[in-house]
Amino acid sequence: MNPYETDELLGQYMAFHYGESHFGVGNYPARCAGVCQELMAGREKRSALDLGCAVGRTTFELARVFEQVTGVDLSRRFIEAANQLKTQGISEYFQPDEGDLGTSCQVSLAESGLANAAQRVRFEVADACNLSGEHRGHDLIFAGNLIDRLQDPRSFLSSVHQHLADDGILVISSPYTLLEAYTPRSAWLGGFRRNGQPFTVLDGMKEILNSHFELIREPVDVPFVIRETRRKFQHTIAELTAWQRIR
Ligand SMILES: C[S@@+](CC[C@H](N)C(=O)[O-])C[C@H]1O[C@@H](n2cnc3c(N)ncnc32)[C@H](O)[C@@H]1O
Repeated sequence: MNPYETDELLGQYMAFHYGESHFGVGNYPARCAGVCQELMAGREKRSALDLGCAVGRTTFELARVFEQVTGVDLSRRFIEAANQLKTQGISEYFQPDEGDLGTSCQVSLAESGLANAAQRVRFEVADACNLSGEHRGHDLIFAGNLIDRLQDPRSFLSSVHQHLADDGILVISSPYTLLEAYTPRSAWLGGFRRNGQPFTVLDGMKEILNSHFELIREPVDVPFVIRETRRKFQHTIAELTAWQRIR
């Protein structure tokens, strides 16, 4: 069973994207979209792609400034929830507190100031590693917390330039949580010693992306908190890197 199709993760991600913040840590999908918007200042903002968009907050946030944004995710349930928000403007989810106890919560796009953005987004169930030919020439691609969930991140990074405009921007954020349940060890980008030296996921990303991209700013930390129950939270620090397509 894909965990991203379960009630449990649907509720967690709805709360993570649209619910209250915890321990003073701001909304991660909105913060990532904010960094993308800064990077796009003075550039064409016709279309953007949000790969591994989950329930869609970054997709909606990017549509504040892009003419068209497509959110893509493998999870049918996540895309259904994102589409319900787009078409109805509201959605409900269950937030567990303890065992079967919990609260029913409502999300409203209007309350997040995203009602107008809804007209400029579309959501699609698709594999980020096998996108259709219609995905060409995007000005920005954002991949949030995706690369450490892929079976073959090397193949994704080697081909993602094909979906960008000639000078398009690729933004990747990830806590580099390497788990064999998602990525076989043989496909890890880093997180091991090579020739006796530590070789990180960022080192591996540079090695692959250097064929088509240059790193355009220093990596930044973007923290986030995902609430599991009333008394259990995941506090994670993702690293965000921005790359410009150069060939
Ligand atoms: C860790 S979650 C991150 C979601 C969202 N970007 C965020 O930061 O909240 C990973 C997401 O990637 C999706 N995903 C995993 N593999 C994928 C693939 N090959 N193509 C598209 N989406 C994928 C999962 O369904 C899940 O929604």
